[in-house]
This record gives sequence, C-alpha cells and structure tokens, in this order.
Amino acid sequence: MTDIAIIGGSGLYHLETMENSHSDTVSTPYGPPSDALTSGSIQGEQVVFLARHGAAHTIPPHRVNYRANLWALKHRGVRTVISVCAVGGIRTDLGPGSIIVPDQIIDYTWGREHTLYEQDLSEVTHIDFTDPYCSELRKALINAAADAAIGIAPTATYGATQGPRLETAAEITRLERDGCDIVGMTGMPEASLARELGLCYAAIAVSANDAAGRGDGPIEMDAIKTHLDTGLRRVNQILQRLLLARR
Ligand code: HPA
Repeated sequence: MTDIAIIGGSGLYHLETMENSHSDTVSTPYGPPSDALTSGSIQGEQVVFLARHGAAHTIPPHRVNYRANLWALKHRGVRTVISVCAVGGIRTDLGPGSIIVPDQIIDYTWGREHTLYEQDLSEVTHIDFTDPYCSELRKALINAAADAAIGIAPTATYGATQGPRLETAAEITRLERDGCDIVGMTGMPEASLARELGLCYAAIAVSANDAAGRGDGPIEMDAIKTHLDTGLRRVNQILQRLLLARR
C-alpha cells in the first residue's frame, strides 16, 4: 500500500526521481481529479504523485477539483499528503527563493467546492481545524530540511486568496494586518478537505516573488519561474531526505 502522496503545484508536474512509475486515471464521486495518479518509488518508498494544475498546467487555482483530488488519494490508500505550492512572500524575510513550512491558514477564497459534508448527511459534521496542518508531518519536513542543510522558515501564516489574478498592494497590506506571512491561491480548501478525510496533510511552500507592493515594481512572470525552479530543486532535496527517513 502506498502511504504517502505529493501534490505538485506550479512548476512541479512530475517527480524526476520517481522510479518504476505508472499512471492511472481515477474516477471519483466528485468528478475527475486534476490528472492521473502516478505511482512509483523514491528512495525505496512507494509514493503517489498528483499534479494539482494538471500535467500541462491548464487548471487555474479556482477551478482545481480539490474534492476529487483528495478523495482519489484517500481512495488509493494514502494517509499522508505533502502539498508543494508556490507563494508570494509578505514577511520581508520570506522573499523569492525562501522555503516555508506554514503552520496556520487564513482563508479568503470563495465559491469553491469546499466540503465533503454537504448532502446525504446522517448528521451535521464539523471538523476541528485549530491547527490546520498535521504536526507530525510538519516536523518531518522541518527535520528533513535540517538534514539537507537547507534553511527554511518553520512557521508562517498562509493567506489563501482566490486568484487567478495576483493581489493588489492594498490587499497585501490587509493580509499583513491580518497576520499573513505568505500568500497563495491553492492552500484552501485543500487543507480542510484533507482534514475532513482524516489525512495527515502539510505544505511546503516556495516563495516565487515578493507579494504585490512589497518588491520594486510589478511582479514579473519570468522572475517567478526562475525563483520557482531554484526553490523547487531545494524542495526536491528535502523530500528525498524525508522519504529516506521514513524507511
Ligand atoms: N499571490 C498569490 N499566489 C501566489 C503568489 C502571489 O504573490 N505568488 C505565487 N503564488
């Protein structure tokens, strides 16, 4: 059985280090997931990979079928999910290239299919979401980064925005006032759906840019790509260490 899954965000559409991989399409009660699930081994551990935005990056953050993605992984027998995601840095020390393991979330998204507890309920169900990420998995990510001698921010509040546009400078000022340290578009409802399904879920984020109004001038898409590529190489090293430590 495969215990662990990695959901790849912008810039991460497959795992180069995966061996003996095969892909299969899964159907779910919520419609199709973003892509086929690719299963294989990394460092001797069985891993499932799913590209959140599709293999060719065609699904924008507000159109990702988060329910189908998480349901498909759970159905596959996965218990642990690592989300790899791109963010903008709001805190001054979280500029481009920084790697962050967030510990809190503020949700600003709207109109997304955000719960599995919607109909055919035997009773109304509320999940505890005080700590939105799985603390054991967060620790494992933080330890793996230390093993790989890669500096990361071990705590941060993730502000989840609707996208697909980037924010205005005033919106970032508001997020900062609210206590957000980083901003991204895919953190919710992914994290709460994972909790509804009883999955151990944590995120490792790469800062691709200074958030709107925090750098000099407009946010350049080419620069985002460059910083993402560099950050994702480091995230990959951290994931290798984490998988090695699980053996
Ligand atoms: N805002 C929201 N999402 C993002 C950003 C940003 O600045 N950068 C990468 N993903």
